Amino acid sequence: MADAFTLAFDAPLGGLNTLRIGATASCLATIADPDALPAILGHDQLHELPVLVLGEGSNVLFATDFHGLVLRPAWRSVRISDDDGRTAIVQAAAGYGWDALVDWTLAQGLPGLENLALIPGLVGAAPIQNIGAYGVEASEFITAVDAWDRGRGGFVRLDAVACGFGYRDSIFKREPERWIVSNVEFRFDRERRRALDYAGVREELAALGNTDPTPAQVASAVRRLRHRKLPDPGSIGNAGSFFKNPVLARERAAELQSANPSLPVYPAGDASSKLSAAWLIEACGWRGLRDGDAGISAQHALVLVNHGRATGAELLTLARRVAAFVAERFGVRLEPEPRI
Ligand code: FAD
Ligand code: EPU
Repeated sequence: MADAFTLAFDAPLGGLNTLRIGATASCLATIADPDALPAILGHDQLHELPVLVLGEGSNVLFATDFHGLVLRPAWRSVRISDDDGRTAIVQAAAGYGWDALVDWTLAQGLPGLENLALIPGLVGAAPIQNIGAYGVEASEFITAVDAWDRGRGGFVRLDAVACGFGYRDSIFKREPERWIVSNVEFRFDRERRRALDYAGVREELAALGNTDPTPAQVASAVRRLRHRKLPDPGSIGNAGSFFKNPVLARERAAELQSANPSLPVYPAGDASSKLSAAWLIEACGWRGLRDGDAGISAQHALVLVNHGRATGAELLTLARRVAAFVAERFGVRLEPEPRI
């Protein structure tokens, strides 16, 4: 039988994060079976180290080397555990690719994840920040998350309420040292209506000649939109949006919009509004600027890019300068989205 895990000491992480930061980890454990977690966490040489779970590294910034234990979930499986003809329950392992899950569910005739096509990363990371795009969030489908609880030293199952999902938020994001997600359970409704209202989706579908699109056609349209709008981490290091879109009291957002009429403002619950962080950064003149190899994408003002050999510290310095500019000009605080 293959080893349940392998360990590498002083391991380079440059190929394991999409910002392509050349950091190292004291130890990198690649894990083929979640049942190996107690042995790894209790290992003589490892049990006192800080722990970081790393999926595809598409939402992390290594500001320094990581003096600790990096855990890479490499267990991959997906199956339908229950199906009554209208709704189906799917169990997906943490190490399964997110975009592969989108394709797999669509091939099973299960709609819902099409708007979340092409988001980089693994299934186990999806609940961490409750990934979202094109008007849909993963939490609309997640019914439970199985995780190792480092606080209690055992596996637990959290239902969706216990996960505390919000915009780019969850209990897992708020307590990053505590949880190692092993499996995510989803529920899909075969009669779910398509979500086509996000700006650009209908236009892209119309350009493809799809007026009554199948979920797979929506996924294709979303993939085309994303290719056009966002820099490809295969060509230039980046972690997608570097800041969250700020959420403000509705009155404060309305004031800002009346002073800046082209600022996009979206409803966010009863008393709050969400602003476009990209617009705020672009208005400060930062789009496309660079300082050495650390830069702001010319394609999208919310994306921090590594033009080659930028260090994590250089990228972080640039991000802080951008945030300070936006705070100075608009009085709005930008909060980073990736784990730093
Ligand atoms: P990593 O980057 O490896 O980890 C991210 C965080 O999750 C870390 O804190 C890590 O410790 C934790 N984590 C990962 N796996 C586990 C686990 N099994 N258990 C516990 N903690 C874990 N995000 C969106 O929401 N919407 C988008 O549209 C979007 N577009 C993107 C576009 C690009 C080009 C890029 C580069 C990123 C984009 N992202 C987007 C961000 C990113 O893809 C998501 O956050 C994704 O879920 C990260 O997956 P990962 O496997 O790479 O996680
Ligand atoms: N805009 C600018 N300048 C730019 C880019 C955008 O002013 O350079 C303005 C435009 O007015 C545009 C608006 O910002 O209409 C919104 O842009 P976009 O549709 O690209 O969305 P976003 O708010 O910048 C969010 C998510 C993305 C997600 C898209 C699509 C956050 C932090 N980001 O970006 O998620 O893919 O919507 O739903 O919520 C990620 O989290 O990494 C990510 C890429």
